[in-house]
Amino acid sequence: MSVPLSGERSPIAQHVAIIMDGNGRWAKRQGLPRAEGHRRGVLALKDIVKAAKPRQIKYLTVYAFSTENWRRPQAEIDVLMDLLVEFLDSEIAELRSQGVRLSAIGHLEELPERCQQKLAEGMAATRQGHDLSLTLALNYGSRREIVDAARQLAEAAQRGEIQPAEISDALFSAHLSTKDLPDPDLIIRPSGEWRLSNFLLWQAAYAEIYSTEVLWPDFDAAQLDLALAAFARRERRYGAVSSRDGGS
Ligand code: FPP
Repeated sequence: MSVPLSGERSPIAQHVAIIMDGNGRWAKRQGLPRAEGHRRGVLALKDIVKAAKPRQIKYLTVYAFSTENWRRPQAEIDVLMDLLVEFLDSEIAELRSQGVRLSAIGHLEELPERCQQKLAEGMAATRQGHDLSLTLALNYGSRREIVDAARQLAEAAQRGEIQPAEISDALFSAHLSTKDLPDPDLIIRPSGEWRLSNFLLWQAAYAEIYSTEVLWPDFDAAQLDLALAAFARRERRYGAVSSRDGGS
């Protein structure tokens, strides 16, 4: 989506994106199997979804499985896929009653059939939700998404449907899987890392990044409040001069 003018700063983060990191470390610290860390990660996700609307968050996008996560042991991949199915089975009615609209980005067609099925059901059941848009990034990788968009545009140009000179920020954004979402205002990464790890690279151009040492299973509404307070204190200049230094 387009870049706001400097000065149009809102202290409210309407789109929050989260890299749900640290499940494995959390489990290790507790002497539990990694699967238990992921299970606790799902509980944290449920809490943050509930906490979003009262904090005026309109879009919540979470990195649940990356294109690189296929490199994990098959048993761990199976746990993550089972948790996704369980989450969808147990939460859809609740999400619906909370006014959540569920969607997903990533190459969903490569997920196990049972996940695709539940996702399709969940998205259909919640499509009337207007209070919060919850997007699960599943088998998602930003570079692949950007390459997909470039290929689609090249093919459209080859067919003569567009001229290369017509390719703009906006047209490119419209070919990304996030075309229906505004760019994230705030990207939260628990567990003390400062990497984007192939998450929303294009969309994060002007996002504020917040990192905390807290591991994802321990990330709760109070942690979200700390992240939102840090966001509210930041000045977003979008490449312009600070208003404090005489800019508009
Ligand atoms: C990173 O922690 C987390 C993941 C790869 C998966 C995130 C998934 C969940 C929170 C649960 C499943 C989600 C849904 C929607 C059901 P890590 O395992 O890499 O942690 P580590 O870096 O400490 O090892």
